[in-house]
Amino acid sequence: MIVKPLYLFDSQKTYVIAGGLGGIGRSIARWMAERGARHLLFLSRSGTTRQEARALLEELNAQQVQALAPQCDITDLKQLRTVVEEACKQMPPIKGCIQGAMVLRVRPNPAFPQIIICFRAQMLINDRILFSKP
Ligand SMILES: NC(=O)c1ccc[n+]([C@@H]2O[C@H](COP(=O)([O-])OP(=O)(O)OC[C@H]3O[C@@H](n4cnc5c(N)ncnc54)[C@H](OP(=O)(O)O)[C@@H]3O)[C@@H](O)[C@H]2O)c1
Repeated sequence: MIVKPLYLFDSQKTYVIAGGLGGIGRSIARWMAERGARHLLFLSRSGTTRQEARALLEELNAQQVQALAPQCDITDLKQLRTVVEEACKQMPPIKGCIQGAMVLRVRPNPAFPQIIICFRAQMLINDRILFSKP
């Protein structure tokens, strides 16, 4: 029996996955590709330096998914704007964003400011940078 997915992504638009080369992000990307997403922009500080990241991009490319993974610290708004602008020259307009970027530290006090910065960045991604393009 073939089960039709309940939700399909727009194959003519770009979806951003911040932190998308981590564990959950890679699973989300595969899930999105299975459901029609054809343009994925991954944002992480390490970009394609890790083998699993390169393997994921190859896997997606083999499924006719355009997958770019520029290095980008999403808490650095200047860098974020530059990276998104560059990517938009090669990709269709951005339709959605999944925030999966996270830094988890065992000791709560030193980690707390960094986690807060990530959440703030997510709001700024949505409001000012990603969706300011047509
Ligand atoms: N794993 C779980 O069981 C679980 C359960 C529930 C919810 N979650 C949530 O799911 C999200 C992802 O979890 P995960 O297990 O996939 O974590 P993960 O494997 O550590 O992935 C997080 C990714 O975030 C990226 N990242 C961190 N700081 C960044 C920054 N400033 N700019 C850009 N990218 C950044 C990291 O890449 P770089 O180091 O290269 O930047 C990393 O690839 C988190 O929000 C977590 O709270 C996870």
